[in-house]
Formats: sequence, C-alpha cells, structure tokens
Amino acid sequence: MPTIPPVQARPPENEPHRARQTAESFGIDPGRYDRTRPRYPDALVERIVAGSPGPDVLDVGCGTGIEARQFRAAGCTVLGVEPDARMADFARRGGVEVEVATFETWDPAGRVFDAVVAGTAWHWVDPVAGAAKAAQVLRPGGRLAPFHHVFQSPPEVTEALAEAYRRVAPDSPFGLSGQRTRPALDLYQPLFAKIADGIREAGGFSEPQQWRFDWECAYTRKQWLDQLPTLGALTQLAPDKLAELLEGVGAAIDAMGGSFTMSYATVVITAARADRRP
Ligand SMILES: C[S@@+](CC[C@H](N)C(=O)[O-])C[C@H]1O[C@@H](n2cnc3c(N)ncnc32)[C@H](O)[C@@H]1O
Repeated sequence: MPTIPPVQARPPENEPHRARQTAESFGIDPGRYDRTRPRYPDALVERIVAGSPGPDVLDVGCGTGIEARQFRAAGCTVLGVEPDARMADFARRGGVEVEVATFETWDPAGRVFDAVVAGTAWHWVDPVAGAAKAAQVLRPGGRLAPFHHVFQSPPEVTEALAEAYRRVAPDSPFGLSGQRTRPALDLYQPLFAKIADGIREAGGFSEPQQWRFDWECAYTRKQWLDQLPTLGALTQLAPDKLAELLEGVGAAIDAMGGSFTMSYATVVITAARADRRP
C-alpha cells in the first residue's frame, strides 16, 4: 500500500504524526529511498509554482530532496526542513539546502516564503500546528500545498501485501488491509479532510482546495520489491520478516507475469494565505 498507511481506527493511523519513531525512520536507507520513490508529476509542480506569488519555496519533510530538486528545476529556490539527519545529508549532497528539525519546532528566524510544500510528509506533521506555522512564514497570497501520492496496486499485489503484513506484523498499528476492500483514494479522504480541517482551524488561509493528478507507472518485480521496504509501515520490520513479506509479494507479481502497472493519484490540499492575518 501507499507511502502513508490507510487511515483506520487505531491512534497512530488517525494521528500518524504522533508515531514519531516511524515518522523519522525513513533515513534507514536514504539511497534506496531516493532511487525507488516516485517523482511528482511535472504538472503538479507547475501548478503550484504558477499559483504562488514568487519562487521562494519551503519544503517541509524534504527527505532526500526528490520534490526539492523538481522545484529547483522549475526555477525556484528551495529550503528544506527535515528532522532525519540521514535524509537531510542525502538531500544536501544533491544540492538542496536543508535545516534539521521537525516543522513544528523549526525556527524560521524571520524568513518568509512564497510557497510551503510537503511531498508525502504532511501526515507526519501536526495538521493544525503545521498549518499555523505555514501561515506564519508565508507572504500574503503565499500558497500552502502539501501533496501525497496515493497508489492503487492491482488486487493480486494488494492482497499479497496485506496477507504477508498480517502474518509478519500482526500487532502493527499500521494496518495494510483496508485497501483490499476499498479503493486507496477512499481510504485517503479522511486524511485529506483532516489536512483541510487543520488549515481551517489554524486560520489565515482561503478555503482549501483539492487538486488531483492521475498517472501510471509500470513496475517489474525487482523494481517494486526495491521500493517496498521504504514504506513507513515497513521501515522497522526485522530483516527476516521483511524478507518473508517481499517473498509473498514477489510471488504474486510472478504469477502476474513478473510486472504490473500501478495507478497513482497525487493529491494536493492547498490554500492561499489571506492578505491579512485573521
Ligand atoms: C515519506 S517521507 C517524504 C520525503 C520526501 N518529501 C519525498 O516525497 O520523497 C516523509 C518525510 O517527512 C519527514 N518528517 C517526519 N516528521 C516530520 C515533521 N514533523 N516535520 C517535518 N518533516 C517530517 C521524515 O523524516 C521524512 O523524510
């Protein structure tokens, strides 16, 4: 399942930002992360840039610098804020300026920006405190634009992952079973609603909008099994458990002929900073 766990009843999924060990676990293998995680649609980057009053971008949870490099290529200056020093080091090697902190505790030191973006990272940030901090650092008319990849694998692959995960991590709060019965986008709507509610509660923004970009990507068995260990729900699995899970998913992909096509929807929840503070 996706880069964020489907929202279900138990606390870490309803409030993933409280699961700090998982939130800051992606740096276990930054090279794998950067090599395998998908880039963001160019149309998404272009729309955010066009909808912002200038080129100064703050990238919250920049990780290894995937979207930061894309915004730089689109002509922006980008500052990353990233709590995991291992991810920050990797991003810096790719030319991205990064300060190590959670967004909630980061000190803007009076700096202001035209856009605050977050690539598949805002669910790890307190939605109200994060939006309030974004309002603090955005120029009037500046855009808050957290976005997330939601991916829908074929049922055979989804089922194999859910089944293997249930077997190797029966007590995990990050259930991966929801996708077997409901489309991934449906599972993500509560998260998107929560992000929009956080923006409304923080105040100082226009009414949030949802922008959606649909695309597809073909994966071989090798490519998908290379990316799977980077999912937040899997970063802390013991090596033998991870191997068992990959074996189960790999067998499902083999049965499909060794490759499959993933459907992605990359969804932006966005609002512009009001001209005046409330
Ligand atoms: C799934 S990764 C996304 C990385 C990158 N944006 C991308 O799309 O490839 C989530 C990132 O958010 C960072 N993160 C977790 N909690 C955070 C917080 N409170 N403030 C800022 N970043 C946070 C993690 O360390 C991790 O690098």
